[in-house]
Amino acid sequence: MGQQNEVSRSIKINKKYLNLPVQMSEERQQMSFSLGDDPVRKFVIRLSDGEPDYWVFSDVSEYMGQTLKLSFPTAVKGFDQIYQSDKWAGQDSVYQEVYRPQFHFTSQRGWNNDPNGLVYYDGTYHLFYQHNPYEILWENMHWGHATSTDLIHWTEVGEALYPDGLGTMFSGTAAIDVNNTTGFQTGEEPPMILAYTAHLNSTDEGVTQTQCIAYSNDKGQTFTKYSGNPVINSKETWDSQNTRDPKIFWHEPTEKWVMVLFEKDGHSFYNSDNLKDWTFQSHLRGFWECPELFELPIDGNQYNTQWVIYGASGTYMLGEFDGREFTPISGKHQYVQGRFFAAQTFNNIPETDGRRIQFGWGRDIVHPGMPFGQLMLFPTELSLRSTQNGVRLFNEPIQEIEQLYKTSQNWTQLTQAEANEKIQQIKSDLLRIKMKVEILDDTNFEVLFKGQTIARYDMNHNTINDHFYQTAQAESGVLELDILLDRTSVEVFVDKGAFTLVDVLQNPGSKEGLKINSPRGLIKIHHLGVHELKSIWNK
Ligand code: FRU
Repeated sequence: MGQQNEVSRSIKINKKYLNLPVQMSEERQQMSFSLGDDPVRKFVIRLSDGEPDYWVFSDVSEYMGQTLKLSFPTAVKGFDQIYQSDKWAGQDSVYQEVYRPQFHFTSQRGWNNDPNGLVYYDGTYHLFYQHNPYEILWENMHWGHATSTDLIHWTEVGEALYPDGLGTMFSGTAAIDVNNTTGFQTGEEPPMILAYTAHLNSTDEGVTQTQCIAYSNDKGQTFTKYSGNPVINSKETWDSQNTRDPKIFWHEPTEKWVMVLFEKDGHSFYNSDNLKDWTFQSHLRGFWECPELFELPIDGNQYNTQWVIYGASGTYMLGEFDGREFTPISGKHQYVQGRFFAAQTFNNIPETDGRRIQFGWGRDIVHPGMPFGQLMLFPTELSLRSTQNGVRLFNEPIQEIEQLYKTSQNWTQLTQAEANEKIQQIKSDLLRIKMKVEILDDTNFEVLFKGQTIARYDMNHNTINDHFYQTAQAESGVLELDILLDRTSVEVFVDKGAFTLVDVLQNPGSKEGLKINSPRGLIKIHHLGVHELKSIWNK
């Protein structure tokens, strides 16, 4: 640790980025950037005092030509090493780091958690996300932003929302205000609206979480925060510090905006005509964080629909929704388990597409030496299908994944030994593996990768990776697996998406390949498909 006396530097900004060195063994301290006496950015950072572990950057192009004053509480060596450049440090080797996921979105630098503001606008998909630009662990919440035209290849475009006087930028959603109900529209095209939570932690009042909106008139390139923020402050109503994560969408039958908001012990429903003035309607207990609510056809029949509601863990209920209140027609179900959290789906997907497309946060571990932490799970399509147990939510990788196939091989009717011989030949570790397995004279089987059990089905106890599960047709003994393997993650979609397992590869450096195993080897592999995948980062 350096000297305990505030240090400052003045830098005339003539380059796009400030590069800052981070050392994880240092303490977090507050950096502030000011213009004259006006603080314009504040964040905490572990500035290095010795050898940096990695470098992070701050885009300062909005201050071009002005003199920015940097202040930090202690005189660490890293403070003097901060420099401006038109490149951020490490830019040339980004996405080539050993443990960088190759077909999942990760932020170039820093930490990500929840996907935010998933919205489609005029040919572009927008993925915003909870972002700490200054460290590989959670802090300093901003909204990072990336765009794509195919849901597969993403371009990171930088911070969309910076912390402000109302707090740091917690989770929320986006929608296109097609009818200009907000009056924010300035040009020909309707504004994009972000609804987010500002999280304030003050010494006098403790935590206050308020709901705010911001708008863009350039299709999501730049955002202006609404001058009347916050639009909801319900801390006192609920006597709770937990009021966050607004999901907004336009409800056509009532011609109103709906906000589903996590408050205290469940999800509340609000209505608005203009996204600024909100009226509380009802509350449904039993969910925690990141609300999602949408209507889906059952078995593809547009005339037979149900509504799905969930929170951050992904446990869901089916029911009816009249624009004001959710009426459950089922208890809780679970379609996903493991290192998954805070998923949300896209707003404003064109009717010609009509899919309900979801992104979830993949909760990763820290991989040594990496300048980023966490990942987005592969986008999936959600659907409702009839099963032996009634209507259930299904989750499958979007079909666009096929663009990434580099090689594909398919075999049928293999013994366990024959299947293992085929998969031993695989060289790549970026894979989609599909298999249909029948248990003949055994109780269970497992699939291993890099020495780790990534899926284990036990017919006797009806479990998959220790979670209760029965096969699509309970009496069949046949299980289908659709497995996505990236550098540090595994997603397993069971029986065409009836159940999803998400896990981290604990030893991503292991050279051990795929293997199928059962106690007696008495299983039959009806079908085995192996698809080697391309990286999304080399277009
Ligand atoms: C869920 C969550 C949200 C919150 C955000 C903060 O992971 O805790 O409730 O808005 O993360 O980063």
